[in-house]
Amino acid sequence: MAHKVIYDTDPGVDDAMALLFLHQHPAIDLVGITTVFGNATIATTTRNALFLKEKWQIAAPVARGAGHAINPDRVEGPPPAFVHGDNGLGNVAGVPDSVATQPDPRPAFQFIIDTVRANPGEINIVAVGRMTNLALALAAAPDIVGLVKQVVIMGGAFDVPGNVSPVAEANIIGDPEAADIVMTAAWKVVAIGLDVTHQTIMTRAELAETARTGGERVRFLNALSQFYIDFYQHIVDDGMFVHDSCAAVYVVAPELFTNRSGPIRVVSEGIATGQTIQKPDGKFFPPGPWDGYPSQLVSVGIDAAAVLKLIHQTIA
Ligand code: BDR
Ligand code: CA
Repeated sequence: MAHKVIYDTDPGVDDAMALLFLHQHPAIDLVGITTVFGNATIATTTRNALFLKEKWQIAAPVARGAGHAINPDRVEGPPPAFVHGDNGLGNVAGVPDSVATQPDPRPAFQFIIDTVRANPGEINIVAVGRMTNLALALAAAPDIVGLVKQVVIMGGAFDVPGNVSPVAEANIIGDPEAADIVMTAAWKVVAIGLDVTHQTIMTRAELAETARTGGERVRFLNALSQFYIDFYQHIVDDGMFVHDSCAAVYVVAPELFTNRSGPIRVVSEGIATGQTIQKPDGKFFPPGPWDGYPSQLVSVGIDAAAVLKLIHQTIA
């Protein structure tokens, strides 16, 4: 039976690759796409999701999500246009200001609640942006914790430095209170963070080769990825981290990851804001802020070559 997936995303260049993976993998049934602010404004990420739905003929509905973090006092900077371009898709040509396809009338959190309740025990939520929509869904419908199969997030930096601060990864620091709510809820979370995504690099040449042998969809993906690859030149040798695709791959190939179990908390104040900290199961500490929360999984190892091969095979 196919894995049913709700894809919660802020497209976003690497988000677009993961969307194509989820759409094309034969063992995945993409039942919904929910958008969130992050790599661009909520208007732009939603427009991009609708645009890619049209362009790639994706049946799943798109529901527009949160435009701001759940803490109204959190000061938000401008979107990272220097990473994903002003249009969120690497400034690739051909992205219209608006598209004809309309989003689902429900806000993303309600779409998540309704879809989870309609498919008890079957939905994998793959969340690769800020976790705002998930936190809102939990607040409105606490019963969904017992109905979701698993929540696979791209987010966090556990045993490695962050990418926005020395300790914080972008998806977490963008809404740390939401991330803490999601990590401490009584559902199964798998955190695919920089610990493994920074090991998983697709080179410009490999993506070009995939585009050469693949169809029109991956040719467009290749075109929109060039700006992002150029941005990463300072830390990657002519390639890109495929952050969000790692989380998508986990749904169909968890055996390619090594996980560590233990409760996770997220720092939401001070210079360590956005830090994700796991207390590994079996380690003894005096009473502390991790006590009483469920153990979640953090990916600490990845077979990067096999993950990249699966992405290549699927998107081509
Ligand atoms: C994460 O932040 C975003 O820029 C990417 O799309 C990815 O989800 C990586 O830190
Ligand atoms: Ca993302």
